[in-house]
Amino acid sequence: MFCDTHCHLFQEYYKDVDKIILLAKESGVDRMIVAGCDGKSNQEVLELVQRKEFYGVLGIHPEEIYTSTLRDMGFIKEHLSHSKIIGIGEIGLDYHYDKENKDEQIRLFEAQLGLAEEMHMPVVVHSREATLDTISCLKKYKVKGVIHSFSGSLETAKTYIDMGFLLGVNGVITFKNCHLKEVIKKIDLHNIVLETDSPYLTPVPFRGKQNDPSKIKNIAEFICELKDVSIEELVKITNENIKRIFDI
Ligand code: NI
Repeated sequence: MFCDTHCHLFQEYYKDVDKIILLAKESGVDRMIVAGCDGKSNQEVLELVQRKEFYGVLGIHPEEIYTSTLRDMGFIKEHLSHSKIIGIGEIGLDYHYDKENKDEQIRLFEAQLGLAEEMHMPVVVHSREATLDTISCLKKYKVKGVIHSFSGSLETAKTYIDMGFLLGVNGVITFKNCHLKEVIKKIDLHNIVLETDSPYLTPVPFRGKQNDPSKIKNIAEFICELKDVSIEELVKITNENIKRIFDI
């Protein structure tokens, strides 16, 4: 069975979580890692992980820098010892909409990287239009983890892999004219994990509709075709990869 290593199954997007779990199981997905982004969603992660199918990571997303407070950091620290909280995320740098606050973003990112190092926990990293700064921040800390929604060049992929990170691959790879296909073709499968980033980034042929973890199946089928491997092989390799990073 597959694991969706990155999704946001929060009440504002999904009314019926039981239905989402059922759909996922029908598509061969039996575990999901829910990623928090701010104070409110981190609390929801803790509620969701009470169900056996869910694991969680807690963190403050760079886009939430103005809505988050020291109290939210306190909440994260307080709950990292929970048996189903398996990492710190979604954290990172995003210069797409706002470059003016680079210094604040880096400070928030490094505070959470420091916490991960101290607690010996993996990180789930979001990096958009910020590759060089992301790499230089990660290099300052002894951490491992996943580069979520990886969509960079082959050279960047190799840099992250050399640093001990896995690349999170989602529906973006199924998009037409996406260069990621060429990069993943040249990357050994032992360096990737599958994710949906639900409710975002719905794979082909469901683009325009809301995403959900059952769509891991479509992403997996696409990668099997691209890499000429069987579904069973992809399940086996990606599950081994997950175990190298996360305590699942
Ligand atoms: Ni995400």
